[in-house]
Amino acid sequence: MDKNTSIHGMWSSRLMFILAATGSAVGLGNIWRFPYMTSDNGGGAFVLVYLGCIFFVGLPILVAEILIGRHGRVSPINTFRKLTRESGASRHWVAIGWIGIVAGILILSFYSVVAGWTLHYGWLYLKQLFGGAPITDPGATFQGLLASPVELTFWHAMFMLLTVAVVALGVEKGLERAVRFLMPSLFVLLLVLVGYGFTTGRMADAAAFLFRPDWSAIDGNVFLRAMGQAFFTLSLGMCTMMTYGAYLPREGVSIPRAGLAIALTDTSVALLAGLAIFPVVLSFGIDPAGGGPGLIFTSLPLAFEAMPFGILYGLLFFVLLAVAAWTSSISLLEPATAFLVERFGIANRKRAALGIAGLSWLLGLLSVLSLNLWSGVRILDRDIMTFIEFIANDLMLPLGGLLIALFAGWALNSTILREQLSDMPPALFTTWRWLLRVVAPALVLIVLVRAVL
Ligand code: PHE
Repeated sequence: MDKNTSIHGMWSSRLMFILAATGSAVGLGNIWRFPYMTSDNGGGAFVLVYLGCIFFVGLPILVAEILIGRHGRVSPINTFRKLTRESGASRHWVAIGWIGIVAGILILSFYSVVAGWTLHYGWLYLKQLFGGAPITDPGATFQGLLASPVELTFWHAMFMLLTVAVVALGVEKGLERAVRFLMPSLFVLLLVLVGYGFTTGRMADAAAFLFRPDWSAIDGNVFLRAMGQAFFTLSLGMCTMMTYGAYLPREGVSIPRAGLAIALTDTSVALLAGLAIFPVVLSFGIDPAGGGPGLIFTSLPLAFEAMPFGILYGLLFFVLLAVAAWTSSISLLEPATAFLVERFGIANRKRAALGIAGLSWLLGLLSVLSLNLWSGVRILDRDIMTFIEFIANDLMLPLGGLLIALFAGWALNSTILREQLSDMPPALFTTWRWLLRVVAPALVLIVLVRAVL
């Protein structure tokens, strides 16, 4: 086979790669998780540390993941097998691929549960459009959903099925179609919501909450959460971007530029989400500190009730959020699926996707139950869902990212690096390499060690 194509298919154009990678990056991480993480971790201080992590740690690793993928052309585990052979490096690096697969399955398990919440809300607004009851007490509506294992499991299953359907169809047919129109629409809708934020008169306070750091709020924990969030939101540390890089044509695409475009878009969406949500939170008298995972579900419905055409906006918002989650969940499932396909043959893509998704769905039931029947179960002071999220997002992703940085910085043959980054000016290349070799690993290590000790 031509060494410049992948058996899984290829992106049909450069734009498709950027859209798909951005589709992976932009998701619940930006619109659900970023606002409540900011809310729970002291506002501006958290945002500042998060932005630092994105640009000094995330971006260099993003470039590394994409280039490793484009050189390897296969699923992460087999890519590491190939690259360690070519570079004469230790076979132990293959472990990065395994960490990625496990993290992907764990993340998908709760991701699908939360994405199910957004489907449920889309449904609630659709019903309202046809005369269903309005959401007058969003807190009670949200608690009502969490209290029902049946409802949660149903939406979790629906969302997982949507994810499998796309991944089973493969890269060109499945993934591309989903991202072409829907991502830009979400962006526009967020702008509308930010526009509404201005009408509440609390935009200035919201901006102050987001951008004026309260230094006393920063501790080791804030660093850990901000770093975990940076990895999560950029889909880094679990070989997702590597897998997408494997389907990227060799010619005509600058990896550093693509990486920058992805990081900037992702960051703008998160900040826009913040600017859309906090004016509402403040103007309706919700305490901005400590919103928790329900934040967007308990605040935005208040705005939708109050604004003109709010029901329609509500419907659009939750549907598009589900789509954004969908383009991300696809990318959570793809690395493991590609690995099984390489193992058992291309004819088995459907079964591979179904098998991994089934496993993730089952694990997701733990998260479902931790919201109601098992809410009393505590592991390291967290409920089960928060615990899984903590292990996967805050520990495994940074650890995977750390190892990827070290691998690309120290172990990978420099000829490969230069070949893949041939358009990067020498000074930038050197800077990137030192960020990867020393700065990013040191920062991740300090944060992880402080968190564990
Ligand atoms: N980046 C996605 C989001 O912000 C989540 C994700 C993490 C996707 C890791 C793939 C890999 O919602």
